[in-house]
Amino acid sequence: MTQAPKKLFIKTYGCQMNVYDSDRMADALAPHGYEPTADMLDADLVVLNTCHIREKASEKVFSELGRLRDLREERRAEGRDLMIGVAGCVAQAEGEEIVRRAPAVDLVFGPQSYHRLPELVARAHNGAKVVDTEFPAEDKFDHLPAAKKEVTLARGLTAFLTVQEGCDKFCTFCVVPYTRGTETSRKVEQVLTEARNLAAAGVRELTLLGQNVNAYHGLDAAGRSMDLGELCFRLAEIPGIARIRYTTSHPLDMSDALIEAHRDLPALMPYLHLPVQSGSDRILKAMNRRHTTRQYHEIIARIRDARPDLALSGDFIVGFPGETDADFEDTLNLVRTVRYASAFTFKYSMRPGTPGADLPDQIDEAVKVDRLAQLNALIAEHTRDFAQSCVGKVLPVLIEKPGRNAGQVGGRSPYLQAVHMDGPTRLIGQILPVRIVAVGNNSLKGEIVTESEPNSVSLGLSDGRTPPSAGAAQGA
Ligand code: SAH
Ligand code: SF4
Ligand code: F3S
Repeated sequence: MTQAPKKLFIKTYGCQMNVYDSDRMADALAPHGYEPTADMLDADLVVLNTCHIREKASEKVFSELGRLRDLREERRAEGRDLMIGVAGCVAQAEGEEIVRRAPAVDLVFGPQSYHRLPELVARAHNGAKVVDTEFPAEDKFDHLPAAKKEVTLARGLTAFLTVQEGCDKFCTFCVVPYTRGTETSRKVEQVLTEARNLAAAGVRELTLLGQNVNAYHGLDAAGRSMDLGELCFRLAEIPGIARIRYTTSHPLDMSDALIEAHRDLPALMPYLHLPVQSGSDRILKAMNRRHTTRQYHEIIARIRDARPDLALSGDFIVGFPGETDADFEDTLNLVRTVRYASAFTFKYSMRPGTPGADLPDQIDEAVKVDRLAQLNALIAEHTRDFAQSCVGKVLPVLIEKPGRNAGQVGGRSPYLQAVHMDGPTRLIGQILPVRIVAVGNNSLKGEIVTESEPNSVSLGLSDGRTPPSAGAAQGA
């Protein structure tokens, strides 16, 4: 007798790698009779794929677990059970502690155990509390099922693909080296196979993921180490793959070869996330970022030289221990000089076990709030200026979905801006030249120039690759 399929609901917190991992967990459980559901209330197994990066992120998990405990009580009254699992970075960091704080949890497993998930679920079914936060000797990617065409088809025209995981940098504020482990790269063939499957399922744009993705050094079939730039060239050869992005990069790993790839590989999108965190050399040193602001500016100059239409995004932390008004002013000045097309900003959050938590001169919440508001206002101004500078330009847009109104379609520019246009839905999946005509709320309005995909789709800037610029003054 075959059993009715069980329903799996995964709730994902945190970064894009968790999004990717949640899909892989679903892939791993599919052959064991679990099918995904979009409704948590309907699930037999709920997995919270958690994030530990800031206090708020990890505390969310415990309130959700409170709700799940209540759901399970209701279920049991109806004679049906509910299994509760915690995966991801909180699982890795807290392990047993989660079961102590939330006894309703049946299994806790870290990011390096996802290939063992079917076995862990089977053990939990037999009534055991399962906690698996080892860093196993084997490579999970050798054991996880390869991404399948039927599964990936549902995931649309853009896809994440993890190529590197873990981090050896040990910035003093950050939990990632502890939750994701030491830096490892997936083998080249494994990455290419997965990318071919994605392309066969209709994917046009790949975002390569890694905590330190530009430190990639995967082995090829001959046992030779390949860097990220070369990997991008290989991926761009796959029919159908037209756009490649990668995130997140550390400034120190922007090698000459990778910068040359930005110059020579049109498929590599001219939009780079290059976090700097602070514009103060003193704070950068205390953060153990291992570079100065001057080196950061030099790296950016080299990248912009190689790819003049490139725009930048970044991450910033305000209120790191010891940050003075003058240090913060340095951050504002760095932002004024670089002029990011967009950026993510955070208040420093003290994380247990990181060196930053032991530093004196922790900053008052009110000061953090004020600095964050100032920084956000400045960046918002630059983001608007950048969008405005796109008006009048022809940008290649990946047409992704029907638009808000009938007869419209929506897509993304090379700079990840949402673009809305008049056009038939049959254009979905193509990368078309689109003239940007206006800036809306968090999106651009465009007009399709031609309804057939040009050969060199990813270049596409009509006017000799003049860079859209975030404003007049570069350098201040
Ligand atoms: N792998 C990424 C970092 C992931 S965390 C990288 O190396 O860039 C994403 C961002 O969260 C970081 O860039 C940093 O700006 C922020 N962040 C990390 N730890 C933090 C903390 N303790 N408090 C506030 N923000 C933090
Ligand atoms: Fe965290 Fe720094 Fe590693 Fe990024 S480089 S993951 S911020 S330790
Ligand atoms: Fe969060 Fe872990 Fe990603 S801490 S940001 S889910 S690597």
